[in-house]
Amino acid sequence: MKKLNGVIRAQQFSTKTVEEIFSITEWMENSPPADLLKGKVMVTLFYEPSTRTRLSFESAMNRLGGRVIGTENAKDFSSKAKGESLEDMVRVASDYGHIIVLRYHKKGGAKRAQNFSRIPIINAGDGVGQHPTQALLDLYTIKKRFGKIKGLKIAMVGDLANGRTVRSLCYFLAKHFPGNKIFFVSPKKTRMKNDIKRYLDRYGVKWTETDNLAQVLPEVDVIYQTRVQKERFKDKQSVYKQVERESRELIINKESLILMKESAIIMHPLPRITEISYDVDDDKRAVYFEQARNGIFVRMALLKMILVGY
Ligand code: CP
Repeated sequence: MKKLNGVIRAQQFSTKTVEEIFSITEWMENSPPADLLKGKVMVTLFYEPSTRTRLSFESAMNRLGGRVIGTENAKDFSSKAKGESLEDMVRVASDYGHIIVLRYHKKGGAKRAQNFSRIPIINAGDGVGQHPTQALLDLYTIKKRFGKIKGLKIAMVGDLANGRTVRSLCYFLAKHFPGNKIFFVSPKKTRMKNDIKRYLDRYGVKWTETDNLAQVLPEVDVIYQTRVQKERFKDKQSVYKQVERESRELIINKESLILMKESAIIMHPLPRITEISYDVDDDKRAVYFEQARNGIFVRMALLKMILVGY
């Protein structure tokens, strides 16, 4: 039996491993083995706020019989507040559990942690870097809804420059799921970064870029909406105000539903601020809460593959 050696970035996986993740995720969704992780301890270190990622990882570990220790606000409630480095924190936490789930405020945090950890690290989001487990649950949701991840037109909407979920999603789509087309829809100041565009080009993925959501809506199968990442604009208030103003043109509301295909789906990694109006929630195409729920099963699968093997 082989083991996954942690989850740091989307590009680390082979296509076969991604298929195995989805297959184990289905198993976890339908008949989870209750004692699979008995005796195992998961350490959660969250240097940035989280609802879904932390709680779904904790739920996943508990459902499989494991235990959880950790801090939901490591910046204030760990010795980071006294000046302790990430490296020292990880070295110590390596003795307290069998796996570390880390959310860090700076890009590259998970990789840094991996270099000093004696136990596997899962990247639960590293600044504007990546959020690979989110992208896996996004893809699992698309697969459940369409039965495939091929031949789809996917619009990624919002703050694409600072959103780490869309970055990880692009890496996975490019490497493992050929035959889709991506529409980047964003204000000019928050366009998708060039490194991702180059990666898509390398894998021959068709993509286009616009700030006109209404034009794209009738065409696409998946609308992946994202919020403006306010916390990334701390020293750039005038840019933030401009992005916020232009983002009002990208809100998904009742009028957007009229333009969309009946078979399309609306996704969002959440939290949602104003970019999807609440009166859209009851539409059958709104799948963002189902998407968040799928996070439990994907994370159960990953914990199994890392701690037990597959
Ligand atoms: N999607 C996501 O990462 O949500 P949280 O920030 O609540 O974990």
